[in-house]
Amino acid sequence: MITLIQQLLMIEKQVNVAVVQGVMISPCYRTLIQQLFVTERFGSSQIDDELLARFEKVTGKPVHHWLRRGIFFSHRDLHQILTHYEQGKPFFLYTGRGPSSDAMHVGHLIPFVITKWLQDVFDVPLVIQLTDDEKYLWRDVKLEDITRLARENAKDIIACGFDMEKTFIFSDFDFIGQCPEFYRNMVRVAKCVTFNQVKGIFGFGDSDPIGKISFPAIQATPSFSSSFPFIFGKANIPCLIPCAIDQDPYFRMTRDVAPKLGYHKPALLHSVFFPALQGARTKMSGSDPNSSISLRDTPKQIKNKVNKHAFSGGQATVEEHREKGGNCDVDISYQYLRFFLEDDAKLEQVHKDYSSGALLTGELKKMLIEVLQPIVTTHQQNRLQVTDEIVQQFMTPRKLKFSYGS
Ligand code: TYM
Repeated sequence: MITLIQQLLMIEKQVNVAVVQGVMISPCYRTLIQQLFVTERFGSSQIDDELLARFEKVTGKPVHHWLRRGIFFSHRDLHQILTHYEQGKPFFLYTGRGPSSDAMHVGHLIPFVITKWLQDVFDVPLVIQLTDDEKYLWRDVKLEDITRLARENAKDIIACGFDMEKTFIFSDFDFIGQCPEFYRNMVRVAKCVTFNQVKGIFGFGDSDPIGKISFPAIQATPSFSSSFPFIFGKANIPCLIPCAIDQDPYFRMTRDVAPKLGYHKPALLHSVFFPALQGARTKMSGSDPNSSISLRDTPKQIKNKVNKHAFSGGQATVEEHREKGGNCDVDISYQYLRFFLEDDAKLEQVHKDYSSGALLTGELKKMLIEVLQPIVTTHQQNRLQVTDEIVQQFMTPRKLKFSYGS
């Protein structure tokens, strides 16, 4: 019997063949297959209407539009976190960033914006790991430069509005040596995972540095509350990790290990990837500033980038566009608006007008520019308020505003 995975693999292959042959495949269809693939192959669950309704019932708050719109599309054990919360039991949030460049792009904001929203909704502690060690191991960079980038990225993260009383940010290089409990958990994890397993999960080869092979234990460790005794004491509290789907392998591994150590499996909330300006099939690249909107871009740069580089789903001429309409599925301006235009009714109208041809590509781009410019400018203004002292305070191991019995 053919399993669902085999069927999905076959469909994926057909889609790829069709693309090579120049047949247009709607990215929606492609995304659906990819999402099904993730949930079927790796065992995560789709975020469905029932879960969203339960979320609203338990929290008494409307869900974030990224949850409503399927931008956060998959989860692991979110129901359990909701049950925990319903029963008045504590949990915490954990997310992170590998500081590889000075300027983060708007896509990097996604996990942090949703994490801030979750922190506000649930009023829970948050730990943010800056994996400067990861980037040192993976990239051709100097150790001193990475340390600086971690602090620069911390400013962008703090600018998302995190509450200092509820948030601890740490760089692996600076923190781990100060915290024996963290190091013990790291080694506990490292003892439970074989080289064969990490090879299978991450594709490491014989010539990879051994630092890479042991790194997954470092990203796994913040999932356990006992790694932060100054926040949680000895309490064993579950965590929820918001991230894009690329980080899931680390946490599949962590979830395998957790019960062996007597800890909770981390719950996860996965988002899709924010696409490059050139379209969903290309990748945002640090070496090509035109592939993304940077958090350092000026309003003028944003305007130029969108106008020159945002892939259009419109037709070749105005007449043709008026007649046939545009394709929102491939149009990057529309896709970006799905992330950043909060008003559902407005977004629906844009979809309708662009698809019918009433709205032209230039007009759609103008709308996106007007939505993005204030978001990036406000971020920059917030970042200016984040001094080195504030970064230092966020990054000092300390008790947060929460208390735990044991
Ligand atoms: P990094 O620095 O590659 O990415 C930081 C966070 O941003 C997400 N992300 C994106 N989300 C949407 N669209 C995109 N185009 C996009 N690019 C990146 C990533 O999924 C991540 O959530 N190893 C990690 C650092 C890390 C971490 C964690 C991340 C350590 N612990 C716990 C998440 C959760 C890294 O290099 O992320």
